[in-house]
Amino acid sequence: MQHRVAVIVLSDRAHSGERPDGCIPAVKEALTGDRFEVDDERILPDDAAALQAALIELCEGTTRLVLTAGGTGLTQRDRTPQATAAVLDFEVPGIAEAMRAASLRVTRAAMLSRAVAGVRNRSLIVNLPGSPKAVRETLDAIAGALPHALDQLAGIATDAHPPGYHEA
Ligand code: MTE
Repeated sequence: MQHRVAVIVLSDRAHSGERPDGCIPAVKEALTGDRFEVDDERILPDDAAALQAALIELCEGTTRLVLTAGGTGLTQRDRTPQATAAVLDFEVPGIAEAMRAASLRVTRAAMLSRAVAGVRNRSLIVNLPGSPKAVRETLDAIAGALPHALDQLAGIATDAHPPGYHEA
């Protein structure tokens, strides 16, 4: 089964057109295989209320995975984790832990991303940092576990894992 994926970029500059967005193409490159269909792409300013409204809307429908990119750092405009946490039913902390663990092998700055991941209704929301490079690196760390997570949320997961699933 193919799962519907939405990507929301949080960036004042990409939203205003001051700089081109590279995160959505990076997501599409990283989510290979036939399990994902990216069919909703949005570029929002760093605005918590706009993000919350988009997350709530997307998680009402059949979008199974919502990836956000950007706004996870420490500046005054970085509000993505707070806005996400406010709409989650529950966190899935291992996803953010896995992203940071993998990213710390690449850059010490990985510890500055406050990304959270969790479930609202039957959708998984995952915050990614806001550069194409960081999007690739973090998605590489978690992509292998996403189909099983999304199958569970869709109610179609079985006890039988695909071959190699438990290997790192
Ligand atoms: N993670 C990975 N894998 N690669 C990166 O280059 N950049 C870090 C961090 N996580 C980075 C990363 C930096 S420099 C910052 S400030 C934080 O993510 C937050 O980025 P954001 O505010 O764009 O979300």
